[in-house]
Amino acid sequence: MQKFIGLLCAVLSFSTLADELDDLISQMTIREKIGQLKQATLYTRADVDRFLPLVRRGEVGSFIFNETLRREWRDELQRAALEARLKIPLSFADNIIHGWWTNFPIPLGLACSFEPELFEKMAHYGAIEGRQAGLDWTFGPMCDTARDPRWGRVSEGTGEDPWLNGVYAAAQVRGFQGDDASQEDRVGACLKHYCGYSSSTGGRDYNDSDFGPWTLRNLHLPPFRAAVKAGALSLMSGFNTYDGVPVLASREIMSDILRGEWGFNRLVVTDYKSVAQTLTWGVAASEAEAARRCLEVGNDIEMVSTTYDSLETEVAAGRLDVKVIDRSVKRVLEFKRAVGLFRRPMSVPKPTGEAFRRQTAKMQAFARECALKSAVLLKNDGVLPLKSDVRTIALIGPVATDRRTMVGCWPGLESNDPQTPESLAEALKRELGDGVELKVVAGCAINVKPAMIKGDDGVPMLNRSAPPADAAFDAAAAIAAAKACDVIVFALGEARDWTGENASRSLLTLTGRQQELFDVVTAAVPEKPVVTIVSCGRPLALPTVSGRSNALFYAFHGGDGCPAALAELLTGRASPSGRLTISVPYDVSQVPVYYNACTTGRPTYGHYLDTPERGALYPFGYGLTYSTFRYSSPQVEGRTVKATVQNVGAREATETVQLYVRQRACAEGARPRRELRGFRRVTLAPGQSVEVAFEISPAVLGYVDRAGADRCDSGFYDLWIAPDAVRGERVEVEMGAEGLEF
Ligand code: BGC
Repeated sequence: MQKFIGLLCAVLSFSTLADELDDLISQMTIREKIGQLKQATLYTRADVDRFLPLVRRGEVGSFIFNETLRREWRDELQRAALEARLKIPLSFADNIIHGWWTNFPIPLGLACSFEPELFEKMAHYGAIEGRQAGLDWTFGPMCDTARDPRWGRVSEGTGEDPWLNGVYAAAQVRGFQGDDASQEDRVGACLKHYCGYSSSTGGRDYNDSDFGPWTLRNLHLPPFRAAVKAGALSLMSGFNTYDGVPVLASREIMSDILRGEWGFNRLVVTDYKSVAQTLTWGVAASEAEAARRCLEVGNDIEMVSTTYDSLETEVAAGRLDVKVIDRSVKRVLEFKRAVGLFRRPMSVPKPTGEAFRRQTAKMQAFARECALKSAVLLKNDGVLPLKSDVRTIALIGPVATDRRTMVGCWPGLESNDPQTPESLAEALKRELGDGVELKVVAGCAINVKPAMIKGDDGVPMLNRSAPPADAAFDAAAAIAAAKACDVIVFALGEARDWTGENASRSLLTLTGRQQELFDVVTAAVPEKPVVTIVSCGRPLALPTVSGRSNALFYAFHGGDGCPAALAELLTGRASPSGRLTISVPYDVSQVPVYYNACTTGRPTYGHYLDTPERGALYPFGYGLTYSTFRYSSPQVEGRTVKATVQNVGAREATETVQLYVRQRACAEGARPRRELRGFRRVTLAPGQSVEVAFEISPAVLGYVDRAGADRCDSGFYDLWIAPDAVRGERVEVEMGAEGLEF
């Protein structure tokens, strides 16, 4: 009975709340309604002054803060909104991608931890700092499954596996929103960029994309679907096309799948000015047509609104039913209520003094843990961990001293020049103590302007025969340090502003003159052991660096805690545990190269004649540690597959045990030669072993058919319990029809 009364109260209070919003909408003028669907952007104080009158008239409902966020401005605008006729609070959004004041590793780096709990906590910490900065809404997590590292935004996502990306996206939703996104330490999440944006042709950002329903259903949609199921309060439509139509204007993508099949009745925001861009694409003839079409198919808010003013005329002329506008306004108001804006419109207090220092210390400690678990050791001939008889180390390369690179592509935008609290040189010096001499030489800049010449037609082109000017280039100092040391540690990488949005690259090289520095130094000291750390926003293709290095770490852009984490990993106080979630190619000519390709009809033919390598240099799932693990043959018992994993090395370490599946014959379409469908991190002492078992369920074996249904067929499957996507022993399992239903 009590349960029933509880349920009745919940239903009644929900319908009362719904009625309240309907009531509010019924009082709104058409301009006020359209205002709720408009999001503007702010850069300067002058912008605030320009928008205040509009806010007072209820003609704008939301803001993005860019670069110059000020809590005082936010609250001033909010006060103006509360003075407006209907007192509807504004919402304030920005990108919390890998932390706000604290810089955690970029998502592509943190993904290598294979620990979704870290993503949940990172998102929660980002939400805490974001709220204190004045935000109630983040444009994240990014759910795009990216295979082409030329696309700069691979850094913002979690790699090339759609199932794993779904696990991570759902974890971030939980972290940002908690059980109740209206709490002071939570924000509303926004899944982006729905969908297929990562397929930008040639890796060129904002390009069209070309894939069919099979790829849509099994590669691009799964992470979004997982995150929708996790309760995300909003979603952002993408910039790209699907089947020739910009996705935000696509009935199939927006109405049929998102709003229809998935029943997603929450807020959808477009991407930056993307409604107007349907004109540039050449699919809409006027702003009015663009606005009407995008709204009708299922978008609600126009980000950085330029076209929605025309909706008033569209309604007046009878071309647009006002009910379509009301539907979107309701979603906006529901979102504002869910993130607590009606209850607490002003920004939450930012702690001061000791309380802020304590909060920051907690965040920074977690940033170090994240960085520690993100770094992937790709090669090690035994030079690492550094031996106790090493007396002198030459730390060479721009990332040794610069505190900017590791910050990553999307720090909180309040500072124009975000930096990590310490450099790698400082951290390593601290870790090594007085007994070891550290000779630090940057040797060159992290990046310089490429050298250009005019082509025959007058068009500027890259000068491939001359190095670009770099005042910091100092090979002589680097060689001198290298000659006088026991071990060289190179700290190299990719400039952070060459990663992220609008940062496509055609060459997956070290930026500036770093490769040249590496080459001349290593040529001068051919006998010296070399450890290389690569800080990057994408998998760089560095075959000669990999070849000449005795040990190689990819740390990605590891955030504030990365210098300290790397110092611990180099000395061996900690053992590496990261595993790649994106393939590292030999050469840019191979890309896209990814583990979950299908076998093709002629698997041994069709490869490039001039580059013999077939797979990636380092595959998905790969990573070493300071110990060694042995896997038993996998065994199938009923609906379980299991293997014993033993630490056969000399020290405690963590292994990420991975479950891969392959369906032998699928009438609906060719499935990948392997797909990750499970993993377990196990930490084992020397000699210790553990049995790792995975359930063989329809969710593990299945796929999504072209109509969007989850399917699992009877027939033969291959399973692997393996350390990465290419190794491991296969076991075959035949599934009968029974028990394969979802
Ligand atoms: C990006 C989004 C971002 C938005 C607001 C766009 O250009 O594609 O990812 O959330 O800007 O900053």
